[in-house]
Amino acid sequence: MRVLILDDARERGSAVADIVAKAIGDGGGRTVLGLATGSSPLPAYRELIRRHRVEGLSFARVSAYLLDEYIGLPDGHPQAYREVIRREFTGQLDIDPAAVHGPDGVHPEPAKAAVDYERALRTGGPVAVQLLGIGSNGHLGFNEPGSSLRSTTRVVALTERTRQDNARFFRSLAAVPRRVITQGLGTIGRAEHLVLMAAGAGKAAAVAAALEGPLSASCPGSVLQWHPRVTVVLDEAAAAEL
Ligand code: GLP
Repeated sequence: MRVLILDDARERGSAVADIVAKAIGDGGGRTVLGLATGSSPLPAYRELIRRHRVEGLSFARVSAYLLDEYIGLPDGHPQAYREVIRREFTGQLDIDPAAVHGPDGVHPEPAKAAVDYERALRTGGPVAVQLLGIGSNGHLGFNEPGSSLRSTTRVVALTERTRQDNARFFRSLAAVPRRVITQGLGTIGRAEHLVLMAAGAGKAAAVAAALEGPLSASCPGSVLQWHPRVTVVLDEAAAAEL
């Protein structure tokens, strides 16, 4: 595991953009990226958009898979993750919109949508670089504590803590969906390179538990210790308990 501690958000973004750009270069015909929503990967997205605009880095042959999605937010809802990723990242690139995939959060049978997405990932993968954030309770994607370390894509009920953490994006806590579809920890682990970004003191305990605590379902982020190729990009505050 490679751990980089960089206090400047632009440097963190640049370090991750280097990894993504290299994967695109090495991918030749086709590169599959795994994308996370949330504030953590934003510095990387900003830098990749800059490289696209200024340096001509092309995403025309890239396909992308989202980690997770809320259940029940209609198309166009500003907090639906497919909308968030379009607004903050893919909509500003030359990527084919049809090549950006996510779990179907409006499917009438969410459990079937989860199975379909797992199958799509198996066919479309492997993911070359999977970007990740971490929840304050150690979740990856929406794999809450207690998730099986080998889990696959499925429907998950959010913990109150996660709903409260994410309430800032909604009108009220009551507006935060209770259920989501998330790639499982086993699904995430099939990616060739996992890249976790975290910043701020609120992530310090989760980062320490994930990187240095026991490998345990009580901290889903600890699956990183299992993976042969992991890069962790932190600021000083998020690294404070290492
Ligand atoms: C959300 C997402 C995760 C994300 C995490 C941290 O609940 N499902 O994929 O990593 O919370 O979010 P942030 O980066 O905004 O702190």
